[in-house]
Amino acid sequence: MSELSVRHLLGIKYLNRRDIELIFETADHFKEVLSRPIKKVPSLRDITIANIFFENSTRTKLSFELAEKRLSADVVNFSAAQSSVRKGETLIDTVNNILSMKVDMVVMRHPNPGAGIFLSKHVKASIINAGDGAHEHPTQALLDSYSIREKLGDVGGKKVVIVGDILHSRVALSNIFALQLLGAEVKVCGPKTLMPKHVESLGVTVEPNLRNALEWCDVANMLRIQNERMDMSYFPSTREYTRQFGINRKLLESLSKEIVIMHPGPINRGVEITSDVADSGQSIILNQVENGVAIRMAVIYLLASQIKQ
Ligand code: CP
Repeated sequence: MSELSVRHLLGIKYLNRRDIELIFETADHFKEVLSRPIKKVPSLRDITIANIFFENSTRTKLSFELAEKRLSADVVNFSAAQSSVRKGETLIDTVNNILSMKVDMVVMRHPNPGAGIFLSKHVKASIINAGDGAHEHPTQALLDSYSIREKLGDVGGKKVVIVGDILHSRVALSNIFALQLLGAEVKVCGPKTLMPKHVESLGVTVEPNLRNALEWCDVANMLRIQNERMDMSYFPSTREYTRQFGINRKLLESLSKEIVIMHPGPINRGVEITSDVADSGQSIILNQVENGVAIRMAVIYLLASQIKQ
């Protein structure tokens, strides 16, 4: 069967392993398209997509827009900062007004966890969650696992450590779900104050020591501190954080094996990762960004084929 089990992409939590494999197989095809001189296919000429961003974004917004244009969809962009949301309009009213202009699909980033789920219950369009607060960022997790598969051949059986601000990270939660569905083993590492209570109930183990975590893993996914979601101080100082949970060349070279370094961006250079690691041959950070376009093309294409039925 070559169809997703869902009508919306609201979180990895709602996908099964076959869904992810289908997205990867479809992304393989689109990666080949993206290597051609003409990087465009006419697949979605009859589909209109609205990108609605209530929070800042560089990678995700550009990547979705490029993916939509490479599929020949009509695209409209909406930024909350310049919209009538500022005049008190509700989310449902805003989106229904956009949909009345015959929009088929909505890609939404929102600061509130569950915003995409809420929207999917109230509007007639396919919804893609482009990040909802500290909840999920499903396309980021898909492109992260896809990049591990590309670099190491398979995700199954690999050991992945996610390092940093796990508490406020939608990337961490979506990655945990995706990696486990694909058969990877996952550890989390970071300050105790930035670790969700009962995180082990997600099937991960906590390793408080960064060196031990790096010695154990095949892949380290370094996260930034999400200052915008913090209402108090979670560690004594940035310097202290970097000393305990930052990765640098010296630490990387002292390990007994070569590991793969990932980061979802935006990077805080010199805090969670130094430039000589982020820009090194062990880093696949720019491959992640490149793969994001093929993954988002695959997700949009597969959801759109359900709209067309
Ligand atoms: N990784 C990620 O979501 O980056 P942006 O916030 O720039 O979209």
